[in-house]
Amino acid sequence: MASRFLRSVSLVLLLGCAGGAPAPTPAPVVQTPAPTSVPAVADAAAIDAGAQANPWPYQTPVVVRGANGMVVSDNAVASNVGRDVLASGGNAADAAVATAFALAVAYPTAGNIGGGGFAVTRMRGELRALDFRETAPAAATRDMYLDANGKPKADARDGIKSVGVPGSVAGLWELHRTLGSKKKTWKDLLAPAIKLAREGFVVDDAFLSTLEVGAKRLEKHPVSAALFLPGGAPPAKGSTFKNPELATVLERIEKGPSGFYEGPTAAALVKQMKEEGGLITLADLKKYQAKWRKPVEFTYRGHKIASMPPPSSGGVTLAMIAHILEGYEINKLGFQSPEQLHVVFEAMRRAYAARNAKLGDPDFVKMPLAELLSEGWAKEQRATIVPDRATPSSEIVAAPASASGPHTTHFSVVDSAGDAVSLTTTINWWYGSGVTVKGGGFVLNNEMDDFASVPGTANGFGLVQGEANAIAPGKRMLSSMAPTIVTGPDGKVLLVAGGAGGPTIITAVWQELSNMVDFGLDVGAAVSAPRFHMQHLPDEVIFEKDGLAPATSKRLEAMGYTLKERGHLADAPAIGRAGGEWIGAAEPRRLGGLAAAP
Ligand code: GLY
Repeated sequence: MASRFLRSVSLVLLLGCAGGAPAPTPAPVVQTPAPTSVPAVADAAAIDAGAQANPWPYQTPVVVRGANGMVVSDNAVASNVGRDVLASGGNAADAAVATAFALAVAYPTAGNIGGGGFAVTRMRGELRALDFRETAPAAATRDMYLDANGKPKADARDGIKSVGVPGSVAGLWELHRTLGSKKKTWKDLLAPAIKLAREGFVVDDAFLSTLEVGAKRLEKHPVSAALFLPGGAPPAKGSTFKNPELATVLERIEKGPSGFYEGPTAAALVKQMKEEGGLITLADLKKYQAKWRKPVEFTYRGHKIASMPPPSSGGVTLAMIAHILEGYEINKLGFQSPEQLHVVFEAMRRAYAARNAKLGDPDFVKMPLAELLSEGWAKEQRATIVPDRATPSSEIVAAPASASGPHTTHFSVVDSAGDAVSLTTTINWWYGSGVTVKGGGFVLNNEMDDFASVPGTANGFGLVQGEANAIAPGKRMLSSMAPTIVTGPDGKVLLVAGGAGGPTIITAVWQELSNMVDFGLDVGAAVSAPRFHMQHLPDEVIFEKDGLAPATSKRLEAMGYTLKERGHLADAPAIGRAGGEWIGAAEPRRLGGLAAAP
């Protein structure tokens, strides 16, 4: 499969054909497949001998190119909002704020003002990391999700008790206040989202696909059902979806974060908490603060990588995987050959074992970060990797793991000055807790499930959670979000990446990075390539449907791997650079994503 994927990319390049996905963007954006240098494939013949019946569905990467900047997100309307901000003189931070608010309206399955997130920025050469993760309410307790028999209850992940104190509005304000261009006011950046909420957007297949998945959760909550399933069903394709209550909530935010954390919106949220048994109080909301943190910075084969530090595990885990693999010439093992995949899986296994046991909110737990990020740690891990044999996870003593939900959304922005913002935001699951604020038109997160509500026990996703991530009042739950900026050996931004998909975010970002740095793929091919995921526990490797050739599976199984197929892994759109041009690659696995250039 790997060789077929690469060969098809190369064929497209030779023929100079255009890619096939829609690009609802005005000129001068040109949509073409990316030029991709094809690496040596060690055992192409062996892999092709077991060629698939079904071709890899994302064989032809589709990208958008532009010299003056780029926005890529999981929603076309939101990407175009960000693109317009860039085109009218805004910088990457301005565009990121406007894109995030637009996602809250047009992509409510994950875009939000009722959740939280993280951003890594590189503006005027300075790297920063912004933490606007939700916090546990003051009334939260360590065992709040256990029943009388010590068994976990469902309300950690469903309904009003699963809601963490939202951080998005405070985070976006902080991004604007600190890094905005001053050419755009806060009000300017809210305006497109307010218009979208008031005047509506066209219901398309992408929106309907999220409602299809979310309907079961939304229908349990009358306010959510009335908004998203009017008359008991999703709105008709082609109709206009309006959310005037959300427009009013956004207008209140025009005066700043106090327009959300205090006043009528806060009062409505807290009233609902009281009525339905939730924990968030007015004091929790007023107290919420976004925090600037020091990014995790590391190098990989001459490239400088900056990613998110705890309370996200994204940057540290990415660094651990990179450090272990830097000790192997993986490009010589062949792209996605069994030998290459073996060392990658073993690096992932060891990095996740450490992540799962050790990481949490830095304001609450002490973490051995210097050790985990050291070359010595990576060397010790490499010494335990056996050629041709999978190490059972039970032999790696670092569990238990921490949980992450399946849905989130990532977007990246670069501007004409080469500055970049990589931002991931989430309400955790699709449509979060399923609860919409009465009179507010926005969905609340179920981020409390990212805590270890039952340390040492597998959660709903089969992940085992650790003590470092136990619930405490005011604490931030551990995340897997990995907004990342890669600077090339020439000192310029080369890749802006991140993703959605809980723990699969980190492995997807790692693979995009390695696909580019180790195998010379350009960003379109790097995003489109088949993905794999290993997270220590459960002791299995997940691969994407049609992404693994039978010959490769056989060799991996003979080494001791348990392989599990999944439809797709992560949504991880990205922006890359080739010479003086930005290349935007929307996620081909996510219906409705778009790269847009000014
Ligand atoms: N809620 C998903 C994560 O933060 O990893």
